[in-house]
Amino acid sequence: MSLPECQPIEVTADKPYPVFLGAPLEALGEYLHTQFKDLEHVLIITNPVVAELYAERLKKGLLDYRVNCLMVPAGENEKSLERLSQLTSAALRFGTDRHTLVIALGGGVIGDLAGFFASIFMRGIRLIQVPTTLLAQVDSSIGGKVAVNHPAGKNILGAFYPPQAVWTDFTTLDSLPWLEVENGLAESIKHALIRNSGLFKFFETQEDNLKQRNPLTWREMVTRSSTVKVTIVSQDEREQGLRALLNLGHSFGHALETGMNYRGVTHGQGVSIGLVAAAYLAKAKGLMTMTEIDRIKGLLSLYGLPTQIVDITLVKQDPQVLLELMKADKKNQGGRKILILPQGIGRAVISKECTDLEILEAWKQVISA
Ligand SMILES: NC(=O)c1ccc[n+]([C@@H]2O[C@H](COP(=O)([O-])OP(=O)(O)OC[C@H]3O[C@@H](n4cnc5c(N)ncnc54)[C@H](O)[C@@H]3O)[C@@H](O)[C@H]2O)c1
Repeated sequence: MSLPECQPIEVTADKPYPVFLGAPLEALGEYLHTQFKDLEHVLIITNPVVAELYAERLKKGLLDYRVNCLMVPAGENEKSLERLSQLTSAALRFGTDRHTLVIALGGGVIGDLAGFFASIFMRGIRLIQVPTTLLAQVDSSIGGKVAVNHPAGKNILGAFYPPQAVWTDFTTLDSLPWLEVENGLAESIKHALIRNSGLFKFFETQEDNLKQRNPLTWREMVTRSSTVKVTIVSQDEREQGLRALLNLGHSFGHALETGMNYRGVTHGQGVSIGLVAAAYLAKAKGLMTMTEIDRIKGLLSLYGLPTQIVDITLVKQDPQVLLELMKADKKNQGGRKILILPQGIGRAVISKECTDLEILEAWKQVISA
């Protein structure tokens, strides 16, 4: 690729940065040459699965730099303070200093962990996000949120740390297992529901092409979905308002994931059921029609995403437990639940007015009899 072929879209936040969509891994080095004249040392942080598939392609463009690769095992458990400490020791052994640039090559786990590492190592070093899952490409690599988990909760320790750039190579998605694709699809459908009815229609009409992984259709889907995220975080980088809309479906979804001890339900499945529950709640508030709810359910089902909790015994008790679990949501203010509700297809609003009874009713709607 010559660089001008790939026009970036820009996150126009406090510290603007480009998101390159459809940029080959091999060409990242060329971009670094144009941007960072002082750069000598590059630290790639990745996991063994992704490294095996893509590290060599990335390194091809980095021949002029001293490159080290730090490997983190796959899995959410790796987003921990212990792993952060180990990364720090290993980075120091490689001579990492304030002038090093970190490349986060992988899915959301690597992006969050490597990003948080870059944000605190010697008070912050340069970072490029190279997302390789659908979820990371359309969502987690954009917006500057980085974090690790704590026994008290997910993403408790984190920062807003915008990267120098996001470098998205669509071809890395070719190897992504369908279960991982589903996690990204749930977020993409959420983006469509919040902000882009045209994208929603695109999902409804492009089922075959998307399932067959037609490269042009995927390119369009990732581009349109990423653009929603770029637009929203550009207007509200620090989540003072608008950005909270991106949590649509997540208050319900997180409660479900927690209720099931993160077993038997993926994040995408939790979000999918959460979107439907939020839609029922929106209907109770007069923001949705049943026809629109059926459209949402139909679309999620088209891509194999669940719209109901089939076996409530999996969450051990009754919907009341799920309601209780929603109390822990980070968005809540002063004991009041803050919920994101869809308003038709393509719009969403923040609501502080939902009663526990209404939320309970919404839960009941997504639990099979
Ligand atoms: N920072 C944010 O704004 C933000 C937003 C949403 C989610 N997240 C975080 O993202 C994480 C989830 O990210 P995820 O869904 O990408 O999961 P992940 O990073 O765990 O990746 C999923 C799996 O896919 C494998 N993989 C990655 N790329 C691959 C490829 N191209 N081909 C084959 N296999 C590949 C990985 O090895 C891993 O096993 C969570 O920790 C979540 O908290 C962060």
